[in-house]
Amino acid sequence: MTAVPGAACQCDSDFLSQVERIASMYRGKPEDLVLALHDVQALRNYLPREALRVVARVLDVPESRVYGVATFYSMFSTKPRGRHIIRICESAPCHVMGAKEVIDSLLDQLGVEMGGTTADCLFTVEATSCLGVCGVAPALMIDDEVYGNLVPGDLFEILERYK
Ligand code: FES
Repeated sequence: MTAVPGAACQCDSDFLSQVERIASMYRGKPEDLVLALHDVQALRNYLPREALRVVARVLDVPESRVYGVATFYSMFSTKPRGRHIIRICESAPCHVMGAKEVIDSLLDQLGVEMGGTTADCLFTVEATSCLGVCGVAPALMIDDEVYGNLVPGDLFEILERYK
């Protein structure tokens, strides 16, 4: 796998139709903009500019406000992200337990840098602070699933589950 920044997730008409359908559920409710963006982001794990335009039009909210909300909250991303988000802990307890070797191996296997998305749009790797599972450090999350007590040799089999 090699990383091609921005190669992921083209905004085809089918995708934009889905965005329109979701946004329509919030028509006339501009106060629910955050909820609408949350639902739209669930389609592709990020909010393409074209999707924000659709949301702005359907909710009758200025595009600048929609973009402002989408870039204010850390739970939203306007940059392309993969179908699965890998969050790997860089806090001290995980670091002490060997997180660096795990991180290096993970990035090497995926062919990306930290923050990058694989060319097939399957994975995005993000660094995070404590995941709250220090008892099983070093740890990472893939979507909502936690993996702990990691050694580099565990990664191949874990990643295969998501292919
Ligand atoms: S420090 Fe890594 S999970 Fe807490």
